[in-house]
Amino acid sequence: MPLEMHKVRIIQKLNLVPVEERQRAVTEAGNNTFLLQNRDTFLDMLTDSGVNAMSDNQLAAMMVADDSYAGSETYTKLESKINELFGMEYFLPAHQGRACEHVLAQVFVKPGDVVPMNYHFTTTKAHILLAGGQVKELYYPDALDVESTNLFKGNMSPELLRETIAKNGVEHTPFVRMELGTNLIGGQPYELSNQKEIYAICQEYGITLVLDASLLADNLYFIKTREAAYKDASIRDITREIADNSDLIYFSARKLGHARGGGICTRDRDLYLKMRDMIPIYEGFLTYGGMSVREIEAIAVGLEETMDFHMINQGPTFIEYMVDELTRRGIPVVRPAGGLGCHLDAMQFIDHVPQSEYPAGALGTALFIASGVRGMERGTLSEERNEDGSEHYSNMELLRLALPRRVFTLSQVKYTIDRVTWLYENRRMIGGLKFVEEPPMLRFFVGRLAPVSDWQDKLVAKFRADFGQGL
Ligand code: F0G
Repeated sequence: MPLEMHKVRIIQKLNLVPVEERQRAVTEAGNNTFLLQNRDTFLDMLTDSGVNAMSDNQLAAMMVADDSYAGSETYTKLESKINELFGMEYFLPAHQGRACEHVLAQVFVKPGDVVPMNYHFTTTKAHILLAGGQVKELYYPDALDVESTNLFKGNMSPELLRETIAKNGVEHTPFVRMELGTNLIGGQPYELSNQKEIYAICQEYGITLVLDASLLADNLYFIKTREAAYKDASIRDITREIADNSDLIYFSARKLGHARGGGICTRDRDLYLKMRDMIPIYEGFLTYGGMSVREIEAIAVGLEETMDFHMINQGPTFIEYMVDELTRRGIPVVRPAGGLGCHLDAMQFIDHVPQSEYPAGALGTALFIASGVRGMERGTLSEERNEDGSEHYSNMELLRLALPRRVFTLSQVKYTIDRVTWLYENRRMIGGLKFVEEPPMLRFFVGRLAPVSDWQDKLVAKFRADFGQGL
């Protein structure tokens, strides 16, 4: 049984509004869960970004923050913690993860460049495309297999990396990027031995290896529990070995460190100097980088707490419970259980809805109506259109139910399982969506859609018939 190794000392009241209200809310939100109001939402599983529970020690640290524009003691604390954990002397603060990606893309990516990576993340890819580059994903075939037994679907293929470098040339390979806890394929980890192999190739060619460590905590847990060679290693030692086998690490501190912010660190003074001047232009002075100093204090404490196995195991063990329970009921979810959240496979869940009608987005609206649980579409809606305007169909159509760490209780997870099960029994009632307003970039954030028929009305009627006056 997953067990909370913490107790709840501050709570936030939740609303569970009636099903008719939930339908009204999702309609007003243009059938886009990003546009829902929290007051209409029961369990917010949209993301784990900036919404993880903070500890008493983090909150206490925020009270002693040193609020000076330049030379803040608080900044020095974070810089020292990073140096201690990663062995990286140079640190550039930024307001969040995508700001780091902006700096990296603007400084290193030129038109015609190709950035090899295990898998893309939405904002990473957007910044690389904006700089005129492209991404090349070098995963193993089963990375996209939702029912795999591969415990490390985030691994990058060394053979494909060599081929890609040979094809594009070192001069068009500004860096190689490995994402820990690979988000878009279901929060799947990579093996430390794989990263070491990739790093050796990067060193052979003189190419920088960049790590996106936003989901470091989950990947640390999986290295410790799944990679035999690290069974007895401490989380601190694994962290250091990850850092030692890379040139540059950036992260969203909305995830890593359970606060809000971000940063880039490196051992290499030349890399640091190339990026440094971007920070005061786009983020803020070098000792805050657009973050509140209170958040910087919280990140420093949060990073230290990430070295505690009982802190980082909470997410993965709750997610594993959810994945196992849904699997037992025959409901298609990404397996093996990863970090970040539980991912419903919309391609199988509603196999009658074509990709042109955004099955993962449609499933997200159906689940919201059925439960007040707010998930996030991670499928075709989250892709950019091809240059000729045609749809770029996503490899996977996932509805991500993120479990912000230490936020939801086991009974809330059980409620979610129960409603997903009801929805699965009624899955044939779910129809597709079509765009009403479609922004040209990152359309999933603010695009508005409508159901292709009156299927949502019928779903609400069925809910009432089955649940009576229940919520
Ligand atoms: N890299 C990864 C792997 C991420 O998951 C995210 C954010 C970012 C970079 C960007 O960081 O949000 O601080 O600008 N992921 C969030 C999510 C948004 O919901 O998965 P950011």
